[in-house]
Amino acid sequence: MLGIDTIGVLTSGGDAPGMNAAVRSVVRAALTRGLKVFGIRRGYSGLITEDIEEMSIRSVSDIIHRGGTILYTARSHTFRTEEGMKKAVDVCGRHGIGGVVTIGGDGTFRGARDLSHRGILCVGLPGTIDNDISSSEYTIGYDTAMNTAVEMVDKIRDTSQSHERCTVVEVMGRNCGSLAVGVGVAVGATAVVVPEVQFDLERDIIATMRRTQLTGKKHFIIIVAEGVGKVNELAKEIERVTGVETRATVLGHVQRGGSPSAHDRIMASRMGVKAVELLSEGIGNQVVAVKGGRIVSYDIDKALAMDSVFDEELFTIAHEISI
Ligand code: F6P
Repeated sequence: MLGIDTIGVLTSGGDAPGMNAAVRSVVRAALTRGLKVFGIRRGYSGLITEDIEEMSIRSVSDIIHRGGTILYTARSHTFRTEEGMKKAVDVCGRHGIGGVVTIGGDGTFRGARDLSHRGILCVGLPGTIDNDISSSEYTIGYDTAMNTAVEMVDKIRDTSQSHERCTVVEVMGRNCGSLAVGVGVAVGATAVVVPEVQFDLERDIIATMRRTQLTGKKHFIIIVAEGVGKVNELAKEIERVTGVETRATVLGHVQRGGSPSAHDRIMASRMGVKAVELLSEGIGNQVVAVKGGRIVSYDIDKALAMDSVFDEELFTIAHEISI
């Protein structure tokens, strides 16, 4: 379907640093191509309640460096109903919106697929700190969240070292261990525990602690993915078995905030332009992705059916050099 002259942009699901840079890119690329563009607030909810505003070049000034999302975000239950979907399509019709760029994770992509199947061309951009989108090697926000977590763990390391303790740190990631593995390698953790790999306390943590104690190691950092959780129990067990005083820290939502890194700003800018290119050619039901460092796009249904790929090589490296 060619001939789209108006598009919308929304952010949905958990926010991620770099979403603003993506919104800016979409708005500017659309206006450059002569398209009218609406900002839709609070994700799909805003489509239902008609919480939308026409964007200008200046609507997205001074946001490239800001965390969060100026469009706000939400997880809409109403949108998943037939009635909610119908309202969203009606609102699009009233404003002449023929296509929508939806920025978020898998849930956002499912919404984009449903809307596309009802005649509104949608293009999804991967935006989540979890880096858990099967179709893309990279998601906007991952680099910033990883750097935030690394900064926090570096601080924890100071006190852990001073007290000669073991510290178990939980990082976000929902059911995906990508953030944990990245952080684990970057902080030189003693062990990384992720949902993708079966874990054995004695083999994977205790034995490593005992072995490294023999060469003089006195404090330990264990990174645990949110999908494994139970860090308080794990800390108690480590202390009971090893006799090393152990504390647990859950980093939490601090990982979702902050000014996006240069990498996230650049990826968001590249992906935003790609999404507008697709829509301006009348191509919808797509997700934008990174493959081999290049920006590509896939049919949403195919993208959602792709198997997730866990970076076993990085996971192995994390443990191989933790000696
Ligand atoms: O998807 C991003 C994420 O931060 C996950 O890492 C985490 O599991 C979830 O969102 C937390 O969601 P909420 O904002 O509802 O606490």
